Amino acid sequence: MRILLCAAVAALCVSAPAYAQDAALLERGRYLVEVTGACGNCHTPMGPNGPDMSRNLAGGSVFDEQPFRAVSANITPDPETGIGRWTDAQIMRAIREGIRPDGSLIGPPMPFGMYRGLSDGDLQAMVAYLRTVPPVRNAVEKSVYRMPLPPAYGPPVVSVPPPADNAVARGAYLAGPTAHCMECHTPMLPTGQNDMSRLGAGGMQFNGPWGISVAANLTPNGLREWSDAEIERAVRTGVSRNGRQLNPPMAFWAYRSMSAQDMSDLIAYLRSLPPH
Ligand code: HEC
Ligand code: HEC
Repeated sequence: MRILLCAAVAALCVSAPAYAQDAALLERGRYLVEVTGACGNCHTPMGPNGPDMSRNLAGGSVFDEQPFRAVSANITPDPETGIGRWTDAQIMRAIREGIRPDGSLIGPPMPFGMYRGLSDGDLQAMVAYLRTVPPVRNAVEKSVYRMPLPPAYGPPVVSVPPPADNAVARGAYLAGPTAHCMECHTPMLPTGQNDMSRLGAGGMQFNGPWGISVAANLTPNGLREWSDAEIERAVRTGVSRNGRQLNPPMAFWAYRSMSAQDMSDLIAYLRSLPPH
């Protein structure tokens, strides 16, 4: 009896902080997927007023480019048409390394160059959150790649630590692995990879129903005259310094809820970039 009681009390004692920990992990995962990562920018069907949240992360968005016609995947936990049957490790490998459980490679435009740098802890949080999203039954078409995909995006990723604890390092992690700002805002080499010698210099073009939008130069050459508040307003609301409403595909609707700490880290990082 005594032993049983101890066991019951011990379970209570460990489970209270464990619940708190789970809640913190889920909240971090939600923030990474829905706010900074804006996975829904590609994985949630877009309606006339932005993403259709009744079908959050159900996939089916089409990216029709010369080298491919990619269709974003259903990443809700639906067991038939989503990722409900995948293990945590399989989902982590898919996000960070671009490899499905059957060994096939996930194609562009999912930004694997950046996602390879996601920390183990953040990846775990994202998977925990993805498991809680309402499952949506939505079978999406297969993507067609008219270009050879590499066998892999690099060697297996064993483990990634969180960024160093200073504003510029945290901001670099945000602009890279978590929010992939630098994917769009860095010019592309003919090989399809970002030209890292011109990090943040802008120039990439995006065609859509809005016409053509050109990613801006985010190095000090582009933002020298901008105040921090002007950068923040552009990122959160899509209103440029001169008052112009910016065009897609940047995910202002998601970045709106970025934390004040993340925003100031991000700006510190942009200010630290070599000017191009
Ligand atoms: C720029 C667009 C884009 C962004 C941003 C993006 N994805 Fe994707 N993702 C895609 C496309 C397109 C595919 C399908 C590619 C293919 O068919 O090979 C895909 C495939 C996947 C798959 C494979 C699923 C399957 O069934 O094959 C997973 C898992 C995934 N994405 C998770 C995520 C998560 C989590 C995020 C946010 C951190 C994210 N993606 C952000 C475009 C994107
Ligand atoms: C999917 C691609 C994409 C991603 C991801 C992206 N951007 Fe952008 N961004 C653009 C494009 C394209 C424009 C220009 C839109 C226009 O001119 O209408 C732009 C414009 C901007 C501007 C306004 C510049 C100006 O001159 O008005 C800022 C600031 C900016 N981005 C910062 C960021 C930051 C910070 C992030 C990450 C949190 C980010 N962007 C993520 C594509 C992207």
